[in-house]
Amino acid sequence: MKNILIIGSVGQIGSELTMELRRRYGNDNVVAGFRSTQPSEELANSGPLERVDATDVERLNEVVKKYNIDTIYNLAALLSAVAEEKPQAAWNVGVNGVYNVLEVAREHNCAVFFPSSIGAFGPSTPLDNTPQDTIQRPNTMYGVTKVTGELLSDYYFKRFGVDTRGLRYPGIISNVTLPGGGTTDYAVEIFYEAIRNKKYICPMAAGTFLDMMYMPDALDAAIDLMEADPSKLKHRNAFNVTAMSFDPEIISNEIKKHIPEFIMEYDADPRKKAIADTWPNSMDDSCAREEWGWNPKYKLGEMTEDMLKEISKKLGIGY
Ligand code: SER
Repeated sequence: MKNILIIGSVGQIGSELTMELRRRYGNDNVVAGFRSTQPSEELANSGPLERVDATDVERLNEVVKKYNIDTIYNLAALLSAVAEEKPQAAWNVGVNGVYNVLEVAREHNCAVFFPSSIGAFGPSTPLDNTPQDTIQRPNTMYGVTKVTGELLSDYYFKRFGVDTRGLRYPGIISNVTLPGGGTTDYAVEIFYEAIRNKKYICPMAAGTFLDMMYMPDALDAAIDLMEADPSKLKHRNAFNVTAMSFDPEIISNEIKKHIPEFIMEYDADPRKKAIADTWPNSMDDSCAREEWGWNPKYKLGEMTEDMLKEISKKLGIGY
């Protein structure tokens, strides 16, 4: 990885991944691609910035040529809940965009990182200890686009030798950029509300277990996989990765250890419940551990402590 392009650099993962890649590979070697949302000053002032839209293949080609890009992290997507509101747009970014990136990568010999998701599973998948290789019949547009991206990535490697690699991320918990329109967003919002109001109205139904991960581990996962010895990778794409699994009660109780007066009440959103009920309760990520040494650092306790500290600092409100 010498010249890297991030598509979706202003999103929840992209904003932090871009800065981490700049730290590791040098500011000038990491191009932050954005579409419509204005990038933060930190992103804009620390390295090259280009308007790139995965659905505009000509522009994508131009930027890849201009910077002699050899690695593309394609993070552009509509998250699960918003994809159900706008399925056509979700398909356009999540499938046509992914296809464009792979075609450009084929022409210019780039490696490609594609983030799939727990959303790539569905109601007929075994939801406990979900295996790496199992039934995938998602019933959301988000899931349909993620399975398609996984298959296309495998195909471009097998057919054209494009160095594609990817992960199935769980819900990502972070404190820099908010997620937008996902099913797992509650696990981020709860921290902001705990600091601001000591109270949270939870849109996720009681008893809904989902896999989660703290952002520092999510960044390491992407970069470690891209740097892994390819001869050890049996799967290449769509590795299950997880760091913890909890339901709303468990995370609420963890926050209470630091803010005893915190209370959580439920007002479950049936649309989010319908999506979450088809996703794993907890994934088996042993293939990622064996093939490239995946080993997350943050469990629920450390993540909660760090999130409260960072969000309290960011909002200027003590707890
Ligand atoms: N965080 C995503 C969502 O909730 C799942 O990958 O849509």
